[in-house]
Amino acid sequence: MLVFAKIKSVQEKLKSLKKETSIGFVPTMGALHKGHLSLIEQAKKENDFVVVSIFINPTQFDKQEDLINYPKTIENDLDLLKSVSCDLVFIPTAEEIYANNITSSSFDFNGLEYQMEGKFRDGHFNGVGTIVKRLFEIVMPHNAYFGEKDFQQLQIIKNLVAQNQMPINIIGCPIFRENDGLAMSSRNERLTTAHRAAAPFIYKTLQKAKVEFGTKNADELKIWVENEFKNQPLLDLEYFEIADEDTLISIQDIKTSQKQRAFIAVFAGKIRLIDNISL
Ligand code: PAF
Repeated sequence: MLVFAKIKSVQEKLKSLKKETSIGFVPTMGALHKGHLSLIEQAKKENDFVVVSIFINPTQFDKQEDLINYPKTIENDLDLLKSVSCDLVFIPTAEEIYANNITSSSFDFNGLEYQMEGKFRDGHFNGVGTIVKRLFEIVMPHNAYFGEKDFQQLQIIKNLVAQNQMPINIIGCPIFRENDGLAMSSRNERLTTAHRAAAPFIYKTLQKAKVEFGTKNADELKIWVENEFKNQPLLDLEYFEIADEDTLISIQDIKTSQKQRAFIAVFAGKIRLIDNISL
C-alpha cells in the first residue's frame, strides 16, 4: 500500500497507471470503522485501483472544540486499510491542501444546503464542498463512495459534481450499523459508556417512526418523536424531519411518486449523532 502526503506524488502515481485503469476513491477524515471499510470493499470490487484520503478538514467544522477533539487514530487506520487491500492512501497536511488560506469557497447547492444540517451547522457544507472538490481535482476518480448516514452530504456532493460537470460517479452506500442498531460513526468512540448505552434508541425510534408514518402525517410524527425523546434523559433531540430524498424539502404526507426519508439529529451528551431511514 502506497502512503503519500504530497499532491504531486499522488498525481504522478495515478498518471503512471494504464489508461484503462478504473480509479475508485473513498474520502475520509480517518478514525476508520467498519462503515468506512465497507465503502472501501465496495470500491475494490468495482475498480482496478482504490485511493483513500485521510484528512480532517478544518473548514467543515462549525465548532473549534469538535475539530480539536476529532479522533486521530492514524496507525490503526493504516492497519485497517492494509487489511482491505487499499492501493493508495493520501494523508495531506492542511498546508498541502489549502496553502496559507484555510477558508471555504461559497457554494450554491440549489437550496440543499439550507435544509436540516444546514440550519444547525453554519458553513459546514461550504467546507465539505471545498474539500471534496479539491480532492476530486487531485485524484480525478471514476467512482467515489460516500455513506448514506450523511445523506444530505451525499446529495450535495452529487449536486457539486453535476454543477461542475465532473465525470465522476457518486455512489451512495447503505448505513453500516452496530449490532444494536447505532449507525457507525467516528464520533461513537467519544461517547461515554452511559451515552453509548442510550444511543441505540435513535435508530429504534426511526424504525418505529417508519411504521407510524402509515397512520400519522409528518407533523403528528414529529410531535410523537419529540415526546419519545422527552423520556430519554441522556439524549437531546435537535431535529426530526421527513423530507423528499432529492430536494431534501420537508413533506407532510406519503407521496407514492416520491422517495422520502426520515432524518434525525440528537445530542448524546456533547456528541452529536445523525441518522436516517428510508420510508
Ligand atoms: O464524510 C466525511 O468523512 C467528510 O465530510 C468528507 C466527505 C471526507 C469530507 O471531509
